[in-house]
Amino acid sequence: MADASSRPVVIASNRGPLSFSLVDGEPVGRRGSGGLVSGLAPLVESGQARWIAAAMSDADRAAAGDDGIVEADGLTVHMLDIDPEVHRRYYDEVSNSTLWFVHHGLYDLVRSPAFDVGWWEAWESYRQVNAAFADAIVADAPPGATVLVQDYHLCLVARRARVERDDLRFVHFHHTPFAGPDGLRVLPPVVRSELLEGLASHDACGFHTKQWESNYRQCQEAFGGIEGSTFAATINSDMDDLRNVARSKACETALAELAPVMADRAVIARVDRMELSKNIVRGFAAYNRLLERRHDLHTKVVFLACCYPSRLGVEDYRRYHDEVIEAVEAVNERWGTDDWTPVVLMTEDDFPRSVAVLRSYDVLLVNPIRDGLNLVAKEGPVLNERDGQLVLSTEAGAWTELADAADPVFPFDVEATTDTLEAALEREPEQRAFRASELAESAALRTPQDWLEDQLRAV
Ligand code: G6P
Repeated sequence: MADASSRPVVIASNRGPLSFSLVDGEPVGRRGSGGLVSGLAPLVESGQARWIAAAMSDADRAAAGDDGIVEADGLTVHMLDIDPEVHRRYYDEVSNSTLWFVHHGLYDLVRSPAFDVGWWEAWESYRQVNAAFADAIVADAPPGATVLVQDYHLCLVARRARVERDDLRFVHFHHTPFAGPDGLRVLPPVVRSELLEGLASHDACGFHTKQWESNYRQCQEAFGGIEGSTFAATINSDMDDLRNVARSKACETALAELAPVMADRAVIARVDRMELSKNIVRGFAAYNRLLERRHDLHTKVVFLACCYPSRLGVEDYRRYHDEVIEAVEAVNERWGTDDWTPVVLMTEDDFPRSVAVLRSYDVLLVNPIRDGLNLVAKEGPVLNERDGQLVLSTEAGAWTELADAADPVFPFDVEATTDTLEAALEREPEQRAFRASELAESAALRTPQDWLEDQLRAV
């Protein structure tokens, strides 16, 4: 039998590496960013892997055409054209509003979840989309392939595909935290069992940290499942790619545009999608408190906040989006002057500008409630040019890798977050330089290829 690394590879993920938008009525494709794409795309470009993903928008569906094969930016992807309403229920209602909540511990149990008739229809849609992926794998996968199934959207794929194709090997990689048994207990027992059985149908299940791996094993044990083979393997962005963006004209232009607001001020920054787990509002509360305590910092500090809309199909996300904006307005109304805006909020997703902000911070705030990993916490230290300090939530997966030189925050403690921001801002230059270089070193220890190889080795 061929060894794992020489087998052909199939990647299955809900969101693929390409997304399309309509320009003059024609779909135009663009490659996405992030660790998943930079880790796996080279394999697709070299012809060693096929990527199967769902069409996420009308433009994606238009691009997919009859055969579902789309090409752009050197990548070929099989995009599954799933009925939009079925996909909405699977994505918004089960993946984002149920599984995401469970694994991030976000439920306010007094009100949610409530598994009503609508939810059970959505669960059928989740099964249906997983079945569509499984069928595409059965049809597409070359003999003996290793199938890399990505994330909580696709927990049921392997179980079905295996029935038809016992020549394939399956690895599941979970990019979010994994809930412990108490967290998973909120799911109806039949759903919990189906998900756990689905995961156990893989030859191996991978997680970003040992903690999420251990939670998964505990869930299997608590609910009578099969633990199977598991591994922990953290992902990194492609730092060379990021450095190229940092050197690009678009990034320089963004820096020049930001120069007047930064002036000679100390810069606190954050770069996040507006996701419920990112704890953005408590971050602004901590900054507000800093300005309340330290009038001497007024006009001398600015908070550059790149906060991009995410999953606006979900009511909770729309509300959170508004809460973030209200929190910024409250700080700016309370403390702002004609010449000073305490928080500069940027909501239009602009990657070169995010990179410009990461180059420029003195303190980066990454304070999620819970996070599978958090790539920004690694990208910031590698890109930063000002000996920037990292204030990092102990609940982020990246914490274990960066603990030696990051400043810890417990995400729910607003007062302590203020203390930590203040201490990081005021640290002596020599200490700043030392910690910044330690962070940059730890953050770049692994490459996306290391992560890919860990998955292939797991089978
Ligand atoms: C975050 C999570 C991933 C997840 C992704 C999906 O990055 O860490 O686990 O796959 O969101 O995002 P999407 O925009 O496709 O819902």
